[in-house]
Amino acid sequence: MYICNVCQKSYTKWQGRCDSCETWGSLEESSSKTKFSSGAKTQRKKSSEIATITPLKLHELTDDKNLSHFLTSGIEEFDNTVGGRLVAGQVTLLAGTPGIGKSTLCSQLTEAFSTQGKSVLYICGEESPIQIKQRTERLGFRQENVDYIAEVDIAKIEVFLELNSSKYSLVFVDSIQTIFTGELNSSSGSISQISECTNRLVSLAKGLNVAMIIIGHVTKTGDIAGPKILEHMVDTVLYIEGEKRMELRILRVEKNRFGPADEVGIFKMESSGLKQITDTKELFDPNIEEAAGSVFSMSVEGNRPVVIEVQALATKSYFPQPRRTASGFDFNRMNILIAVIEKILKISMGEYDVYINITGGMKINDSGLDLAVIASIISSVKNKVIPRSTIFFGEVGLTGEIRKVWLEDKRIKESKRLGFQNLVSREIGNVRNLKY
Ligand code: TYD
Ligand code: MG
Repeated sequence: MYICNVCQKSYTKWQGRCDSCETWGSLEESSSKTKFSSGAKTQRKKSSEIATITPLKLHELTDDKNLSHFLTSGIEEFDNTVGGRLVAGQVTLLAGTPGIGKSTLCSQLTEAFSTQGKSVLYICGEESPIQIKQRTERLGFRQENVDYIAEVDIAKIEVFLELNSSKYSLVFVDSIQTIFTGELNSSSGSISQISECTNRLVSLAKGLNVAMIIIGHVTKTGDIAGPKILEHMVDTVLYIEGEKRMELRILRVEKNRFGPADEVGIFKMESSGLKQITDTKELFDPNIEEAAGSVFSMSVEGNRPVVIEVQALATKSYFPQPRRTASGFDFNRMNILIAVIEKILKISMGEYDVYINITGGMKINDSGLDLAVIASIISSVKNKVIPRSTIFFGEVGLTGEIRKVWLEDKRIKESKRLGFQNLVSREIGNVRNLKY
């Protein structure tokens, strides 16, 4: 059996190019042999042992109050995102595109735990210890309780950890794409290497009861061999998102077996590392110049209201089919909203190219932005400025009706706190009643 290490399509015979994802040279022989029949027999032989299993009642269980193996970094935006703390034996995947700030965040975490007197091990396959030294010195870190090993052979890492695990509270692996086993022919970073090495790291963390953070790279499209296939192997999956050339970084939980999976951490990448944004007010500048096509909206990230600037540019189209692009907002959703404008507000949108942009490099997947997107398009089409004291939120249905959005109360409260005087939302009923 051969498996494509990019899209995982399987083939019975080897071929040069994968039919499905059209990548050359990506087929690898799968080494996993299923041994169900013999396994089933041994299972049956051991059936007498099943008698030793004791069922439990939930009320008989006591919560583990031993806080010594709870790891709280003190970097609130990180701690909140992972549900307050990491626990011994928990394996976390930290994924993101190259250069987004994974190693920076991990350096900050090592320092935070180190200053608490906790011993940390950092396995660096990606950068040399001297490169890391330069970074940590620039950030002014002392790294007193952080040990670095520049080793990528999983067999050696296993032996080292088995001998030294009692010393460490937390182990970082930077990155999974560089770790390899000599037992497989494929190169490091391939699907089979990544899955095998992750499985062994997870067994190590569980067996030795040590918390582990594994860094993994994803490409922009997220489809390369890597984190996607690892998600089900680990306990917690975190993604760092953002635009490399912009400051904003969002730490998002995709999955968490040890806590809620809907929190986000918000950071800014600065010259002194990642800075926490505990008050999202910092993200928004109320004094930016008023301009046609630009409006504010109140979105929700995790459970937190975040003010967003939506920009639209509608220009006369010279193409047979008008151009449409959306940056930071769902493209299909934008097209639906344009259709609603055309039908309900009777504006002939076929004459306009429309570009939508969410500023700051935010990527928003929140139907609460619908009304703001519509308002920004109309503002641009009519070349009419919407005052900065106005904020829009509401989901728009196909008949132009405005619906209630998730966490509406929080959005209203936050809008008032930030000083918006005119809240345009569900109260106006239908986009037909927009006054702009
Ligand atoms: P890094 O953490 O090395 O990214 P990753 O491990 O995800 O590949 O981050 C690298 C980028 O972050 C690089 O472009 C420089 C920038 N950076 C800062 O802007 N400020 C800093 O304090 C640090 C350490 C990095
Ligand atoms: Mg890195």
